[in-house]
Amino acid sequence: MQSLQVSLGVRSYPIHIGNPGGDSFQSAFFDAIPKSSKVIVVHDASVKEFADGIARSLNPVSGKVPLLAVESGETSKSIEQLDRLWKSMLALKADRQSVLVAVGGGVIGDLVGFLASTWNRGVRFVQVPTTLLAMVDSSVGGKTGINLPEAKNVIGAFWQPHMVWIDVSSLNTLPDREYRSGLAEVIKYGVILDEAFFERLEEQSSSILERNAVAVTEIVRRSCELKAHVVAEDEYETKGLRAILNYGHTFGHAIEALAEYGTYLHGEAISIGMTMAGNLALALGRWTERDLERQTKLFARFGLPTQIASSIAGRFSQAAMLESMILDKKTSHGRLHLILPTRIGHVETVVDAPLNAIQDAIDACIS
Ligand code: GLY
Repeated sequence: MQSLQVSLGVRSYPIHIGNPGGDSFQSAFFDAIPKSSKVIVVHDASVKEFADGIARSLNPVSGKVPLLAVESGETSKSIEQLDRLWKSMLALKADRQSVLVAVGGGVIGDLVGFLASTWNRGVRFVQVPTTLLAMVDSSVGGKTGINLPEAKNVIGAFWQPHMVWIDVSSLNTLPDREYRSGLAEVIKYGVILDEAFFERLEEQSSSILERNAVAVTEIVRRSCELKAHVVAEDEYETKGLRAILNYGHTFGHAIEALAEYGTYLHGEAISIGMTMAGNLALALGRWTERDLERQTKLFARFGLPTQIASSIAGRFSQAAMLESMILDKKTSHGRLHLILPTRIGHVETVVDAPLNAIQDAIDACIS
């Protein structure tokens, strides 16, 4: 396994990435958490077998580790699921020394992280992401939370895990559409921070699409490294740096909400959102046609959408998009903060971009 550190003083933690096999989870777990009471694995119902393996590897030391399954899908990031898990924790007699292990994609990581932050005023947890999206983004950095039907991620807490364990072999069974969706966040890191990485994605697109283990480990490692650096500098998103990770997300979250959660996978909405942001950057003269074209081409290469599907275009009026974007938490005093690129490898925060330019940038993605 390759290991990185998220450097946050006493809340620092390791991210292990690779193709481990055997009992290596157990030793990494006890290195990160030498003492605990009950360990509880909460997993996405679709990765039961993998979660069983994680629980089994802890059984010899932690007694029989209970597993709680959560139905797949964004709709599980709800108060109802949280309530159900709180009650299960009570039934299992979980206490302050209990540890939660989240096995699944971003939904599970966000839900279980929030569960950990609220149980007994906060217990330790470990992230075991099994989707590419969760490996490169949501499992790292401590953002946890649930959705309201009207708005995504508006209820939540910063709660850092004690370890992130990334076994890239869990991607082997990930449906193709979900794998590609994760690649949107990988492309994002290239656009916002690292042109050389973006170039490698262009050059190695075939091995990445074939899920070659070496190529996948490399893109996951670099994405985590870039994210770990940003999080270490600006854990609570108060200094302006962490906000760059939201590139395409203000547009993307509005797309997810208007299309109704579940129509688009997160990465699909984000690739359309990054295209809208790229259109806007071009209209404002902030980056070049060539840069936008490179971004669009890479999305296409990875089978990611850059246009709203015509079958649902009717739901996307400019007014509805703008209202939803203002509702998104990345506004401050009602003023829209957008992350826009200046070139591949660099972005800036733009406050109060002209509304007509934003509307045109949205329109260009609605056929
Ligand atoms: N996904 C954005 C962040 O973690 O800040």
